[in-house]
Amino acid sequence: MRTPIIAGNWKMHKTIAEATALVRKMRRELSAIKGIEKVLCPPFAALSAVVDLIGPTDIKLGAQNMHWEEQGAFTGEISPLMLKELCQYVIIGHSERRKYFGETDEAVNRKVKSALAHGLKPIICVGENLEQNEAGQTDAFVTGQVRVALDGLTAAQVKGLVVAYEPIWAIGTGRAATGADANRVIGLVIRGTVSSMFDEGTAQALRIQYGGSVNPANVAEFMTQPDIDGALVGGASLVADKFVALTRIAADIKRVR
Ligand code: PGA
Repeated sequence: MRTPIIAGNWKMHKTIAEATALVRKMRRELSAIKGIEKVLCPPFAALSAVVDLIGPTDIKLGAQNMHWEEQGAFTGEISPLMLKELCQYVIIGHSERRKYFGETDEAVNRKVKSALAHGLKPIICVGENLEQNEAGQTDAFVTGQVRVALDGLTAAQVKGLVVAYEPIWAIGTGRAATGADANRVIGLVIRGTVSSMFDEGTAQALRIQYGGSVNPANVAEFMTQPDIDGALVGGASLVADKFVALTRIAADIKRVR
């Protein structure tokens, strides 16, 4: 039984004051939703303020990126040692990091290994762009991303991971994938690749989210799919009512008892 997981990726939104207001608005209702993991991923500058606000609740915290080194002359980077004082989760390899900041599959793999070595749970993002999708290259491309991201890990490590399948053409566009298409890539392609790299038990244990224009109106379409364990939510996670509503719908469909 995989525990469902909804994560809110705030991206480069919310000052400390705005983050505080948003968390105050939703923390009571969000923490009242049981049987599902709830993760907030604010920008680095707001992590500490958010930790203080969610401290007594079961809401978890994630960062949006990290460097693999523990410390050193890496101006502008943040390390796993710094994050583990604050967070349980860290998003790694989001398509915006790959596209705008040149993150490669190899960098993603180094970050995943470092996060795991420091007790942080990675949420590893994969997904094809529109051109690849239209050219029928989705399966091969996503398989390649998964293979490199998980290279050198143990089955035990992979079981504890979260992968987010986020087709790039669906991110921030209002044009989500269909539940059936997302489930096919998540089940057949991603779990299939994990099964071939490790074993079927590992492929069945790992949690996989869908991401890309998830909102309260379409979250049920994804959560009713057998291989989809949750969602990585961008835009709708910035609005308290929407994030609470979609988390509640997801829990009602897939809550672990
Ligand atoms: P979106 O973003 O929900 O705004 O499409 C999802 C993401 O990039 O994680």
